Amino acid sequence: MTELGELFELELFGEQIEKRYRKLRPEVEVMPWGTLNTAEFPEHVIVAARQAWTGAAFQEHRTGASCALTLKALIEARAPLDLIAIACRFPLDELVHVELCARLAMELGGGSEIRHSPTALIYEPPRDLPALLIASELVVHNFCVGEALSIPMLRGAAKAAAQPLTRAVLSRIVRDEAMHGGFGWWYLQWAAEQHTREELQHLSRLAARSIRGILSNWDYLKRELLTGKRGRPRAHSLGWMQTTDYLALAAQSLKSKVIQPLARFGIDPLPYLAGELEALTPSAGAMPNARAEAE
Ligand SMILES: [Fe+2]
Ligand SMILES: [Fe+2]
Repeated sequence: MTELGELFELELFGEQIEKRYRKLRPEVEVMPWGTLNTAEFPEHVIVAARQAWTGAAFQEHRTGASCALTLKALIEARAPLDLIAIACRFPLDELVHVELCARLAMELGGGSEIRHSPTALIYEPPRDLPALLIASELVVHNFCVGEALSIPMLRGAAKAAAQPLTRAVLSRIVRDEAMHGGFGWWYLQWAAEQHTREELQHLSRLAARSIRGILSNWDYLKRELLTGKRGRPRAHSLGWMQTTDYLALAAQSLKSKVIQPLARFGIDPLPYLAGELEALTPSAGAMPNARAEAE
């Protein structure tokens, strides 16, 4: 690995393997590829959109690793078999999302350069924790916070998408994520009552840390909006949504889709988020086209 990290680049094996994959997930090929209209956009906006969709592909790649690690932890914790079976689909869903986002970047002229450390891709709980607590950490971090929050955001972005291809890709992702977003709550119905009060407190601290991670992602966009042309935000037709409506939705979703449902299972991140939620007004959301939108 170089000092800058390894290049984020992906390939297909092709032949029979690709055919099998296409059969498993035919929805990739039926997207309206080749319909993106970029004629009305200046070059720098297109470059920003390419960066945005490459960034989205990388995030989906990371989520794929998170889903796979969570799956292993669910098996080790002997979670209910049917619940694990549902989660088996998730890594494949994320791979499909990687391909959708990467191909969108290609349609815009090619992916942009992302360097990363492949062995430091995702959060991994310490291995000396009990198996159930490892599984709960991963489900709370990846599903109850990460996925539950991404759904309303993605739904808003899909609705705001102005071109058939971006709308189709985002809608496909939304459909898969709906299942992912529900998963955390199903899991907690089984796991929460098995945890001691100390463990629930541990999970509350972890949830606060996960939320803080998302808030720091949003900070970038918040700065962009404050320094940018705040008077006329719009949904960018080459990327994802970024409007003041979207920002309000992000803050509201954090409360109603993450913090309130967690509290029902005895997990309360609020005491560990001193003032950080209050600072969220106007909130901002981490979406790939921040730069394109700021133009
Ligand atoms: Fe995804
Ligand atoms: Fe997902």
